Amino acid sequence: MAILKIARMGHPVLRRVADPVVDPTAPDIRRLVRDMLETLEDIGGVGLAAPQVHVSRRVVIFEVPAERAARGSNGETPPEGVAMTVLINPVIEPLADDKELGWEACLSVPGLTGAVPRFTRIRYHGYGLQGERIEREAGGFHARVLQHECDHLDGRVYLDRMTDLRSLTFLKEFEDHVAQRDGEE
Ligand code: NI
Repeated sequence: MAILKIARMGHPVLRRVADPVVDPTAPDIRRLVRDMLETLEDIGGVGLAAPQVHVSRRVVIFEVPAERAARGSNGETPPEGVAMTVLINPVIEPLADDKELGWEACLSVPGLTGAVPRFTRIRYHGYGLQGERIEREAGGFHARVLQHECDHLDGRVYLDRMTDLRSLTFLKEFEDHVAQRDGEE
């Protein structure tokens, strides 16, 4: 087990299209996921993609905490949230054209947050560590997390998806000004 170093924006690994995993049950993938889980728990956050720990493979981990499940979801996210999930070779398909703006932050872009348009309803599938197929529908924050993490596998960060950079805010200023104004967070 190891806590891995996070690649920050500017590192080329974050701009590469990550390679598919041939065998989700392979020992090196198990080891990678174990280290990613430990790293995310250490740093704190809801999701992490392998390129963020300098490994250009199509692997993401994420969870939806209960307190985030209730807010900003269209009811598709169970109120208890979504338990920590390992998703290998994930594929996302939007279920409608609708997008909504929501605040995102990223461990690879420390200290900042911005409003990003994302599809409100998606279906996704991928594979777990036993090679089992995982298939779900998601809305609200759950759908947002998936889109954010899977973008990392295609060399994108959330800033690329922003349609109005004026919302880009340091987290400290967000807490002081934006969160209070919006009456949430
Ligand atoms: Ni990120």
